[in-house]
Amino acid sequence: MELNEKTVKRYSENVELSKEMLYRALHNALSKIDRNIEDFINLFPRPSSVNGIYPGISNGGEWDDWTSGFWTGILWLAYEITKEEKYKKVAAFQLKSYKERIEWKNAVDHHDLGFLYIPSVVANYKVTGSEEAKITAVMAAEHLTTRYREKGEFIQAWGELGNPDNHRLIIDCNLNIPLLFWASEITGNKKYYEIAEKHVNTAAQTVVREDGSTFHTYYFDVETGKPLKGSTAQGNSDDSAWARGQAWGIYGFPLAYKYLKDKKFIELYKKIVNYFLNKLPEDNVCYWDLFFDDNSGEEKDTSAAAIAVCGILEMSKNLKDDDSNKKIYMNAANHIMKSLIEKYTTKNDTRSNGLLKEAVYSKPHGTGVNECCIWGDYFYMEALVRFLKADWKVYW
Ligand code: GLY
Repeated sequence: MELNEKTVKRYSENVELSKEMLYRALHNALSKIDRNIEDFINLFPRPSSVNGIYPGISNGGEWDDWTSGFWTGILWLAYEITKEEKYKKVAAFQLKSYKERIEWKNAVDHHDLGFLYIPSVVANYKVTGSEEAKITAVMAAEHLTTRYREKGEFIQAWGELGNPDNHRLIIDCNLNIPLLFWASEITGNKKYYEIAEKHVNTAAQTVVREDGSTFHTYYFDVETGKPLKGSTAQGNSDDSAWARGQAWGIYGFPLAYKYLKDKKFIELYKKIVNYFLNKLPEDNVCYWDLFFDDNSGEEKDTSAAAIAVCGILEMSKNLKDDDSNKKIYMNAANHIMKSLIEKYTTKNDTRSNGLLKEAVYSKPHGTGVNECCIWGDYFYMEALVRFLKADWKVYW
């Protein structure tokens, strides 16, 4: 899918994201983080807030499948941008809970080991060089490989291995496999690299439709590994484009390019981001499914918007300056980020302990609808850090 005329016109014009605006937004985010830091040392924010407030949960306890890592990741980002020890102290303290979680195999029988261990433990290793963090994250990578399915060449997302009802990959896994690429680089064990490469190639061949929209999940035959059909778990319908899934593609395929340097991921990225930008509503922040527009009365998903901004910033490193789309994508990222900063933060809601409001966890399940979601807060922070600290080294 190409950018349509309207999108080209709209994002040919830039909006200024001044340093002053970005630092003010960072200041507001840090004030919330400072308020939360006492509450979330042994506990972690629940995946989504309840009336704007995250209750505390334990790492790997009830409610936590895949999201603890984001709070620790927010602390690492806060440390990297401010160099204030208080953030590092809590983030480093939390390593113990991730280590126990993987040692005891507590709530890790799913593919979300990257979401859990990259912003928390790989980040720890990248920032501090901790040997304990390295060992812990490699253990998580090793466990992730147990979900690899030879038949079909993919990492099974959820449920009992080999059960036909669960024999599928999901697009979100694009953000889990960097754990395998990293583990391969750090240990020299090619197994991790090969599994990650096979998985992302399978995802590239299945979840992206001809028009650049994406399936959330894709099923494979248990006996033969043959690709069977796309479907959704959190989107509006099997044939719609769930906004966050599309955003996992916008960030995930650039990450595949980072490790594999295969140009097909640049082309794939362009298809996916073009579709996404063509569907953006008036204020540049997507609805929770790209099927919906400003007349729909549906909720936005600010978390998808923040993820997409990070993906656009990541891929812009690899686009040539004479690529006419490069400027359009960057301008679009600026437009989206400005809208998030101006309209969607909790700065005027002193009650809320989240950063970014109006996210949706899962509308079909009625979970976390129009709430703060902890990954939305994380990727909003990551986007701010990316804009403000050009030499920031990506955790993913
Ligand atoms: N990875 C799960 C989600 O995006 O909700």
